[in-house]
Amino acid sequence: MSSNSGNKLLRRLACKVLGVEKAKKIWSRIEIIGDIAVIRKSPNISMAEIRKIAEELVNEITYVKSVWCAISEVKGTFRLREYVHLAGQRKSETIYVEHGCKFKLDITKVYISPALNYEHKRIANTVKPGETIVNMFAGIGLFSIIIAKTVKHVKIYSIDINPYAYKYMVENVMLNKVENYVIPILGDAAEVITEKLVGVADRVLMPLPELAISYLKYAILSMKNKGFLHAYLFIRSIGKRESLEEAHKMYAKELEKYVKDYELIFSRVVRSVGPRKYQVVLDYYVKK
Ligand SMILES: C[S@@+](CC[C@H](N)C(=O)[O-])C[C@H]1O[C@@H](n2cnc3c(N)ncnc32)[C@H](O)[C@@H]1O
Repeated sequence: MSSNSGNKLLRRLACKVLGVEKAKKIWSRIEIIGDIAVIRKSPNISMAEIRKIAEELVNEITYVKSVWCAISEVKGTFRLREYVHLAGQRKSETIYVEHGCKFKLDITKVYISPALNYEHKRIANTVKPGETIVNMFAGIGLFSIIIAKTVKHVKIYSIDINPYAYKYMVENVMLNKVENYVIPILGDAAEVITEKLVGVADRVLMPLPELAISYLKYAILSMKNKGFLHAYLFIRSIGKRESLEEAHKMYAKELEKYVKDYELIFSRVVRSVGPRKYQVVLDYYVKK
């Protein structure tokens, strides 16, 4: 279910349970992850009201087995949210399907965002057969496994510091039969790269905006003499178009510290993450 149709469903259920007038005023959002629904509650709706909607959701949508309320933003090193169980089975583990690949995960223990769906396939479509890739912040393996399923003969070193993300990544690699292509590694990307991945990569993925600047030197360290870099970052800006220009201007200054030459080959706004705050991706071709 797309986020748009999910939010329409939530609005319809809110009308049924709370009445049209109250429903008009709420701006809660819903994400469906496998057979789990996650509601991000807006402050103007009470927990009791959201619980009623969640119960209606489980009754109406038969494939939704469990509903949780996300009560915090994504936070901490592992990029997790806090949750409260609302309705249905009290289970937080599920299988999420994206681009024909299966991902086992526990929403309370690992990062997951269906909003990155388009990015996962977009990056996979830019990879060429035979490439060696370093995915510095691999989570449960979405980018890495989708690349391995899309392109032949790749080798993707996939690092994550969260032991649960690593555990699920190992399982997901087997579930999708990409053991020969995706290499899960548990650890801090800076340490792993310095110890065993210097100068190996044709392409480096940095899907963690919080470390886009401080870990850039390790991204470049892991690269061969030249290669592609995909950096995800947050930027405050007056508008979407401006956010891309500002992000590139700021990031290019950082790149100049570590590489001889660089070219911005693509950029896009991945999503809005707050008032005048955007997540953007910058794709560079760099020469060391
Ligand atoms: C935004 S999530 C990754 C999302 C994932 N690439 C995806 O598409 O679903 C960032 C991940 O980086 C991991 N992480 C945080 N700090 C790290 C570090 N220093 N080294 C390696 N992984 C790190 C977190 O545990 C988390 O799983």
